[in-house]
Parts: sequence; C-alpha cells; structure tokens
Amino acid sequence: MDFFAAVEARRSVRKYTEKLVPADTIHKAIDAALNAPNSSNMQTWKIFWVQDKQKKAALVEACFSQGAAKTAQELVVFSVDRKEWRNSQKAILAAMGPNMPKEAHSYYTKLMPFLYARSYLAPIKWLLFNTVGLFRPMARSPWDMRGVNEVCIKSCALACENFMLAISAQGFDTCPMEGFDEHRVKKMLGLRCHERVVMVISVGERDPKGVWGERFRRPKDSVFKII
Ligand SMILES: Cc1cc2nc3c(=O)[nH]c(=O)nc-3n(C[C@H](O)[C@H](O)[C@H](O)COP(=O)(O)O)c2cc1C
Repeated sequence: MDFFAAVEARRSVRKYTEKLVPADTIHKAIDAALNAPNSSNMQTWKIFWVQDKQKKAALVEACFSQGAAKTAQELVVFSVDRKEWRNSQKAILAAMGPNMPKEAHSYYTKLMPFLYARSYLAPIKWLLFNTVGLFRPMARSPWDMRGVNEVCIKSCALACENFMLAISAQGFDTCPMEGFDEHRVKKMLGLRCHERVVMVISVGERDPKGVWGERFRRPKDSVFKII
C-alpha cells in the first residue's frame, strides 16, 4: 500500500472481527518498528508480543477490559528500559569497530555515558548545563533520569507509529492504548522499577462498528504555523 494510503487507512479501532492476523504480518510490522529513528541509536525499547493465553487475559484486564483490548486478536506491548543504553553502546562500538569516525567514538564513549548514567550526578549535570546555557545553546532539558526516560519514550513512540502504519499497510488495524494500569502490566511482564510501559497496541481486523465515526482533526491553521 502507498504510504499516504496507509496513513489515511489507520484509525483507532475499538472493536475487531474474529479474523486471525497472520504471524508474518506482526513480524513485518515489528521489523518496521525497529527501523524507527531513535535517540543516539540507543534502541532502549523492549517489545512484547503477548501470546500466552493467561498473560493475554491479565493484560486485557490491566487495560481495564476496554473494547480495543478485549476484542483484539493480538496485543503488543511497547516498553522502554533506559539502562539498555549500555548494551546498545557496546553493540554499536563493536559493529563500527576501527572504522568509526573519531567524533562518533568520542560521542559514544564520553558524552553518552555522561548523559545516560550516574543518576547521582543529576543535580550537578543540571547546574552545569544551565550555567553554560546562559552563554551558548545547550541541551537544557532535564538530564536527570526523568529526562532520560522522556528521550527513551519519544523514540519508542516513533517505533509504535511505524508498527501501526506497517499493520495498516498490510490491511489490518490497530489501537494504541495508554489506558492501562502500568504497575500491573510491568508486573506481568517482569519489568523492573526503572522501566516504563509506553503503549499497549492491539491488532486485528476492524469490525464495521469498530471505528468511532469520521476522523476528526482541528483545522490545520490552528496548530501549524509557517514563521
Ligand atoms: C498515546 C496514545 C494513547 C491512547 N490510548 C487510548 C486508549 O487507551 N484507548 C483508546 O480507545 N484509544 C486510545 N488512543 C487512541 C486515540 O484516542 C486516537 O488516536 C484519537 O482519538 C484519534 O483517532 P484516530 O487514531 O482514529 O485518528 C490513544 C492514542 C495514543 C496516541
């Protein structure tokens, strides 16, 4: 399917038919998700395709048994683990080897650890960045663990969108959900304290009553400006 047709076809579906989704459709969409742009290529996402019947039932319940989850054929959970940056850093350094440009090597061995690790230095980092920022442009977003999580979640959201558009391009439907009890979802998946669940995405074929009316968006000129 043409890209714009896939974007147009994607709607959030709250009721699915009983048509099964081929495993290959999900795998293709996961591959598309993993190709999403992501901050410093740190790939801190973890994606769970929940197939186990008991776990699936628990996940539906944790999603407040909303129609988008309850009637779905498949449920995929997108989460982030900010501490995964270390594994990605090692993998990138190993993959690039001696051909890595000097600037990139220095970025991954010096700046990355400074930004992602050592949470106890957060107030010092904040003070340093904000002081330098008085004199020249500086990354002044909160580079404490909250800031790192924010970066990871942004990247993961892009993976979510790639996933949904790839499902749409293959003629199936999705619904992204943040309506869930994160504590329960984390417990079910065995995620640790510092990890976050970004979205639960349901997949299936839309029931004719599964989409709530025509797509509604505010007028373009109320949110988009050329300056
Ligand atoms: C982060 C996020 C969380 C959402 N959570 C839910 C949800 O829990 N339940 C639901 O039915 N829809 C959920 N939605 C879907 C939105 O309501 C939907 O995208 C919006 O109304 C626009 O409709 P459209 O996707 O059909 O264009 C969520 C969407 C996003 C991006």
